[in-house]
Formats: sequence, C-alpha cells, structure tokens
Amino acid sequence: MMPKITYSDKSRKRVFLWWIFFGIFGGHRFYVGKISSGLLYTLTLGFFTLGWLYDGYLIITNNFYDNKNKLLKPGEFIEKTVGRLIFRNKNYLQMQKRQYENDALKWTPDNPDHVVGHYNEHNNWSDYDNFLFKDIDTSNLIALDFGTGPGRNIIKFNSRFYQIDGVDIAQNNLSQCKINLNNNQITNSKLYLTNGQDLSGIPSNFYDVVFSTITFQHIAVHSIRFNLFREINRVLKKGGYFCFQMGYGGKSDGNFVTYFKNFTSTPKTNGFMDVSIMDEKEIKNELLNELQYKNYQSDLRPTGPGDKHKNWIFIKVQK
Ligand SMILES: C[S@@+](CC[C@H](N)C(=O)[O-])C[C@H]1O[C@@H](n2cnc3c(N)ncnc32)[C@H](O)[C@@H]1O
Repeated sequence: MMPKITYSDKSRKRVFLWWIFFGIFGGHRFYVGKISSGLLYTLTLGFFTLGWLYDGYLIITNNFYDNKNKLLKPGEFIEKTVGRLIFRNKNYLQMQKRQYENDALKWTPDNPDHVVGHYNEHNNWSDYDNFLFKDIDTSNLIALDFGTGPGRNIIKFNSRFYQIDGVDIAQNNLSQCKINLNNNQITNSKLYLTNGQDLSGIPSNFYDVVFSTITFQHIAVHSIRFNLFREINRVLKKGGYFCFQMGYGGKSDGNFVTYFKNFTSTPKTNGFMDVSIMDEKEIKNELLNELQYKNYQSDLRPTGPGDKHKNWIFIKVQK
C-alpha cells in the first residue's frame, strides 16, 4: 500500500498570498515556520529575488514544504484564479473526469445510455463494423480501446481480435466496464486509468491497433488531443494502426469549436462542447507531418446515433 501523505496544516492559498504580497521579505517562509530562511530573505530581498521567484514556482506547482517538511495540501484556489492560464488543461480534464465519473455511476447493463447515449443504436450502427478497421485483418491482433467507457467496443469487437484492452479517464467507467465484460465472459482485457492527457503506465511499442469512437470529438482542447495522438503513437508497434472516428463539418446546435482551438472553459463535456473537423487537411497534416504517422486514409460518413455533427469521419493511420 502507498504510504498516506500527511500534509501541512498551513493552507496553500494563504502561503501563496503571503508569497505575492510579502514574499520578497520572506513573508511566506515565516508563515510556514521557516524562520531562518525567512530572515535571510528579509536581509537579501528574497535571496536576490531569485529565491522568491523559485518559491513561487514551488508553491504553484504543489512542491512547497513547511518547516516540518510537510507538503502544502494541493487545493484549487491557484488553479481556479491566478493560475488559470497555467492550469487550464488540468481544470478541463478535472471537469471531464468529474462528469464521466458521475455519468458512469448511473450506468447499468439494463440502462446503458449514460456515458454512451443511444448505446444499443451505436452497437447496431454498421459503419463501425465497415469503416473503423477497414481493410485490416484484425484476427490475432492486440488492441487498445481509448475512452472505453463501459467497454461497449471491447465486447462488440472481442471476437475480431486476440485481445482488447481499455483505457479511460473515469475509474467508475472502468468498474462498470469490468462488470460488462464479465457479463459477456471476457476476462483477458487489461483496463487502465488515465489522467486524460497521456497514457502513462501503458507500455511503449505494444499494441497492433489503438482505436477510439465518440471520444476525441468530445475533447475540445487541441493541445490535449495532440498529446494523446503522440502517446498513441508511442504505445503502438511499428506498423500498428490508429483507427478512430470524429465529428466533421460543424454541429447543428452550434456547440463546437474548430480543430486548433484550445477551448477549456466549458462547464460540461460529452456533446455539450465538441471539436468538429471543418477542413480535413488540418488533422491530416498534423498526423502525417507533426506526429510522423503514415498512410492516412479516411471515410466521410453519415453521423451516428444521437449526434449533432454534420458528418462523421473515420480516420486510419499507421505508425
Ligand atoms: C461518449 S463515451 C464513448 C465510450 C466508447 N468509446 C463507446 O464508443 O462506446 C466517451 C468516453 O471517453 C472517455 N474519455 C473522455 N475524455 C477522455 C480522456 N481525456 N482520456 C481518456 N478517456 C476519456 C469518457 O470517460 C467516456 O468513457
């Protein structure tokens, strides 16, 4: 078991305010009981300003300790106020995680439309069968389902692969996924929890295929998707396929952003604010030129169940 961290009883918010207003004289150091270095800061104007700046960096990034060597407890004050620009991706991912954790709690095998609206219609939508892995012989391949949710695609495609693992931002989704897989006698899938912006903990050069449906269109932040595309490249074997679906052409309700926007300020996800590809060249160039994928292929198709994008696009590239 991981040892439990005991945090300082000094609030990070107050330390931060002491740092801003009196830090140059060592105020924040006096506040956490570091009297000697506080005095040094008083005499040297924050150890020639450099010490003051470095302490600011430590406080903001959750690495500042009090005189008993206890870490300040991370809170949301800095992330939600002065640090909003620095922490906007983190805040966005926290929002995403919160929503999917809550949605997943309502999911049951008999009522599967939470997390994945129109669950059964999606299962019967033949474009997934015909376009997601078009022209790939998937038998004996090992795949990773990115944004697996309750594991709908692991179950749907289980017989087409040797093994399908899943990764998701919400622990409750993974718990429901496990139930769903057990109910379908699937016992060989590994399930990974992610922080939403990388695939840490998942081995490099391991998967023959990484696939994803109705997930990337719900991540309205380009820099997060870009990092995920790079991470997917890392976990793929050389020659492995990245096959995914996204929304295309805008949305009838207007709740979308264009491809390169880093839209972090939406209070909700899962269709409430999506990205929609308006010009295929944008994603194609990125995958081929910046991320070094090869063999780009795509199919522009009608939109799947319950979705408001004008079209869907199925994209396939190779490492
Ligand atoms: C609409 S559901 C689709 C589930 C599944 N792909 C399907 O087609 O049935 C979107 C899923 O993506 C997951 N997700 C959203 N953002 C994510 C992120 N940044 N990293 C990993 N998973 C994410 C959600 O938790 C949710 O399970």
